[in-house]
Amino acid sequence: MISRMKKYLTIEDTIGATPLVRLQRIPGGVGEPRGNVILAKLEGNNPAGSVKDRAASSMIRHAEERGDIRPGDTLIEATSGNTGIALAMMAAVRGYKMILIMPDNLSVERRASMTAYGAQLILTPASQGGMEYARDLATRMQAEGKGKVLDQFANADNPRAHFESTGPELWQQTDGRISHFVSAMGTTGTIMGVAAYLRSRNPAVRIVGAQPAEGAQIPGIRKWPEAYQPAIYQPAEVDEFESIGQAEAEGMARRLAAEEGIFGGISSAGALVAAMRVAARVENATIVFIVCDRGDRYLSTGVFN
Ligand SMILES: Cc1ncc(COP(=O)(O)O)c(C=O)c1O
Repeated sequence: MISRMKKYLTIEDTIGATPLVRLQRIPGGVGEPRGNVILAKLEGNNPAGSVKDRAASSMIRHAEERGDIRPGDTLIEATSGNTGIALAMMAAVRGYKMILIMPDNLSVERRASMTAYGAQLILTPASQGGMEYARDLATRMQAEGKGKVLDQFANADNPRAHFESTGPELWQQTDGRISHFVSAMGTTGTIMGVAAYLRSRNPAVRIVGAQPAEGAQIPGIRKWPEAYQPAIYQPAEVDEFESIGQAEAEGMARRLAAEEGIFGGISSAGALVAAMRVAARVENATIVFIVCDRGDRYLSTGVFN
């Protein structure tokens, strides 16, 4: 009986092992003519729809292993969206109560997805300071004994997810040829974990971080003020920074869908803008960028109209 049950995967088992696909049209002159290949890592293929499934699974599993939390406990997290959806899924899978705190200007699809997984939402006024305010409130609630904060911004199990899974996948999928890794930066978990793994295999790999330009609003990523920089962030791990404008990211998101058939989010397209700039500077490179989530998470914003 047990062996028959074990034969089948759980939903959690399907996290990771995402496809890596080659762009065919967008690279144009900076692609094949220069010997460059640009590859998209499709993290929207994860079960709850984003790269954050890896971090959520890693933070909950490792906290359980250490005895910090156990099923039935209440977890609290301040999240700009994807982490909330991933944690809500993981809480449902493993039997936790989940309270998610987010600014009230984030897309309705995100909120509805969290509620579908059974999480309780607390919306904070975006006018009061957005994510910084949400993060402070989560800390206060933990101090009041209302639950345990995993804190994706300071939790080593967030980058660890990418050191243990995303990085090794990219190394294998490119047969060790990856020369440039490009990621948008939010908590920086993805870029920190992947950078550490790839460098352990090839110290010459270049790590490129995409950040929103001054005034650009790109969901999920930030150029953090000094006082709120994620504790997991080590600036020395990033070799090059690219500033991405909102209009160019949104335009690229439409092109990615219409010209490549890859329906990704805005920050993913921002990473591609950065990857294209890299491709214009280098030759014979294997450039990978992260498609963190799927475009349907942004339909209500009108970006794809
Ligand atoms: C849409 C989106 N893009 C990019 C990121 C950045 O990923 P990371 O937090 O690993 O830096 C996030 C993280 O929340 C996100 O939600």
